[in-house]
Amino acid sequence: MRVLVIGSGGREHTLCWKIGQSPLVQEVFCAPGNGGIAQDAICINLAADDIAGLARFAKDNVIDLTVVGPEAPLVSGIVDAFQAEGLAVFGPSGRAALLEGSKAFAKKMMHACSIPTARFGLFTDAGSARSYIQEADFPVVVKADGLAAGKGVIVTSSREEAFAALDEVMVKKAFGDAGSTVVIEERLTGEEASFIAVCDGEHIVALASSQDHKPALDNDEGPNTGGMGAYSPAPVVDSATHDMVIERILHPLVSGLRAKGITYRGVIYAGLMVTESGPKVLEFNVRLGDPETQPLLMRCTSDIVPVLLEVAKGGSIKGMEFEWAAGPGVCVVLASGGYPGPYDKGRVISGLGQAERIDGVKVFHAGTRLQSGSIVTSGGRVLGVTAVDNDLKAAIDKAYRAVSLISFEGMHYRRDIGHKALKRLS
Ligand code: AMP
Ligand code: GLY
Repeated sequence: MRVLVIGSGGREHTLCWKIGQSPLVQEVFCAPGNGGIAQDAICINLAADDIAGLARFAKDNVIDLTVVGPEAPLVSGIVDAFQAEGLAVFGPSGRAALLEGSKAFAKKMMHACSIPTARFGLFTDAGSARSYIQEADFPVVVKADGLAAGKGVIVTSSREEAFAALDEVMVKKAFGDAGSTVVIEERLTGEEASFIAVCDGEHIVALASSQDHKPALDNDEGPNTGGMGAYSPAPVVDSATHDMVIERILHPLVSGLRAKGITYRGVIYAGLMVTESGPKVLEFNVRLGDPETQPLLMRCTSDIVPVLLEVAKGGSIKGMEFEWAAGPGVCVVLASGGYPGPYDKGRVISGLGQAERIDGVKVFHAGTRLQSGSIVTSGGRVLGVTAVDNDLKAAIDKAYRAVSLISFEGMHYRRDIGHKALKRLS
């Protein structure tokens, strides 16, 4: 088989690396890829949102399976466009991808399917949104409805902060049209976890649990990022919680969508807050998590291609399963100076080879490119240094040992990836 992966981040590097190990696969292409992906796949100079160009490439090069990494092309309907050309593509249709593309749509679905989530209101005018905040007897989170590169969510602690957040989103349009509709919801407390599964429109095959670290600094301080590290499994998702997510969240959602004429095929990712009264949904994503994919796929001992292919072809994954190494996986993200604000680019990275010589370590590239024989930085999140070992402490130590060998000017990272799980386990 010839497989095309779309995207250019750490998640896509991990997908290329894993898919390339499948005995079913002869060649892996990635569009557009990055400096590290070029070592595991053939990079194609086409942007992830160039849907027509990508479909033409897939047809001309007889691609047997396309796997879409990021949400933006999914929400723009890349899957519908590929299917119209008779191409096998893994990911939800544009209508199904609204689950991530519109937080208002996601909340309406959760409400209609009685899925546990924060109490909320949806608003298209600032006046009614202000009244809702005024009357709410709980702290709120203000969310822009549309895609905002992971930035359209403002968690507030007082009415004043909530009014200011609303002003940013709806009046000053900090996230553009994404903020024309806002969701205002109850601020939940608990521990967050990522629950990721594959769905064929009816059956659900769960991946192992994982946990992201969104704030930029240790102890969950500082501004939110795309994710500064992750580990899998997440002990906060115990087996009772796991079953609740499948039975009370994912199955009702998929049935509810089907009742609306939407067949959900692809990855479904529930961002959870595990509260005292059980798991509640913070958001749905329609693709794999980044950086959760890095430790997840490093722990995955089965071939993922048969599942992806079956879903892409509209088949059934009933009874299929992923297998996992017993030992955990940990990913530490190395970021550019300034990230998540404006950041430097073009800094030479050293030590990659040494880090990867450690057994059980793989360095996935997120924002890198090849420049006259050197790997240099080209994005905010640069590398995902990922390690597996027999226990969490050993995996964390190994990941940080690899990190200590890598350097570039301005590099920063969190030093407490996995610590919440260590605390829970002890
Ligand atoms: P989202 O993009 O919806 O996942 O939101 C980004 C981050 O905001 C989440 O990872 C949480 O840390 C936080 N967040 C979102 N919704 C809530 C909520 N209802 N209560 C508390 N925190 C939230
Ligand atoms: N790691 C968070 C996300 O992929 O949305």
